Amino acid sequence: MKSLYLIAGLLLINGYAQAEPFATADANAGKALVEKHCINCHASSFGGDGSAIYTRDYRKVKSSKGLVAQIRNCNTMLGLKWFEDEELNVAKYLNQNYYKFTE
Ligand code: HEC
Repeated sequence: MKSLYLIAGLLLINGYAQAEPFATADANAGKALVEKHCINCHASSFGGDGSAIYTRDYRKVKSSKGLVAQIRNCNTMLGLKWFEDEELNVAKYLNQNYYKFTE
């Protein structure tokens, strides 16, 4: 019986890990960065709060790895000099709210 609980517990932990690809990042910090640096331009081309860019049918980002890569490109293009943890915070925020990749 004990080992059954153990297995169930491990499955649960595993499930959480897969449901959250940026588990250790800080989504609130990411939100603040996006609002400060990213929304204006997206909103001017996509209207509203600009978030349609993440949810459009033909969106470019298809995976959590792709998301980080895209954020890195924007970071470099804009010369923001974000550190990797800042990129991951933004990735977590965008993933939780729009992309919803589970791994
Ligand atoms: C100067 C304008 C501009 C700024 C500033 C900007 N972006 Fe973008 N972003 C774009 C455009 C235009 C696209 C669409 C590119 C395409 O369709 O090929 C895009 C696409 C994206 C996508 C991919 C959307 C998809 O299709 O899945 C992500 C993610 C993204 N931007 C994140 C960011 C982040 C994070 C920042 C802030 C660091 C940022 N962008 C700042 C113009 C901008």
